[in-house]
Amino acid sequence: MAVASNASCPILMFDSGVGGLTVLREARVLMPDRRFIYIADDAAFPYGAWEEEALRAHLLTLFASLLERYRPALSVIACNTASTLAIDSLREAFPGHLFVGTVPAIKPAAERTRSGLVSVLATPGTVKRQYTRDLIRQWASKCHVRLVGSDRLAGLAETYMRDGFVDEEAVRAEIAPCFIEQDGARTDIVVLACTHYPFLVNRMRKTAPWPVDWLDPAEAIARRALSLAVAGADQGRPSDEIRDIAVFTSGKPDFAVTRLMQGIGLTVP
Ligand code: DGL
Repeated sequence: MAVASNASCPILMFDSGVGGLTVLREARVLMPDRRFIYIADDAAFPYGAWEEEALRAHLLTLFASLLERYRPALSVIACNTASTLAIDSLREAFPGHLFVGTVPAIKPAAERTRSGLVSVLATPGTVKRQYTRDLIRQWASKCHVRLVGSDRLAGLAETYMRDGFVDEEAVRAEIAPCFIEQDGARTDIVVLACTHYPFLVNRMRKTAPWPVDWLDPAEAIARRALSLAVAGADQGRPSDEIRDIAVFTSGKPDFAVTRLMQGIGLTVP
């Protein structure tokens, strides 16, 4: 198995916005001595609305400059919308670099469901992907999987994280199509297939028509990153030297998001 070769290099954590922070918080627990660089491609948010070819080209161009600039030990694509589209292209374009992807947790959902009714809540982009359909065919052929594309939830999560405000009625409306009853059975698992969504899970629980398991793959992704970064396990930097940073592709994060990043210990250069 390939492992990150240079333990002193940072781990790059990438998303279109604040969603990747749900993965970062797990990664920091598992790798307290690693340095992280959080990249929010806010200039291009939301990815869910992008046309596929344009987004793939954008990601390849952006990663060429990110890898050159930050020379990370590995990169975590903490975004389903980007991973389901471009993880293979990124690996092909940068063969010497390790990428950890984030894809809908369809396999664990299919293993856990008791009713056989599973919903995958994601951006419109992730729902459309061939990658997502292949996961269903490969792992969940015995389940009834409903794909639910949400135009609004990623934006609602951004607002919540910046301003502390959630439009509960909008959350209720966005998650409603996840809940189906069929032949006396009910949906019992909703896969959170966008890294922004775990921030809203309490509101989802509150507005759901019945209780379900909300599957958040953040810890599993962090574990995968840890397994590739094992070279750094006992060579980390002393903690007072650790400087995690958050970089915004817009170059001009507003006050609210800067405060959010600083509040979780990320310096905004
Ligand atoms: N956080 C991203 C994901 O996991 C999507 C948000 C967006 O639409 O940009 O899919």
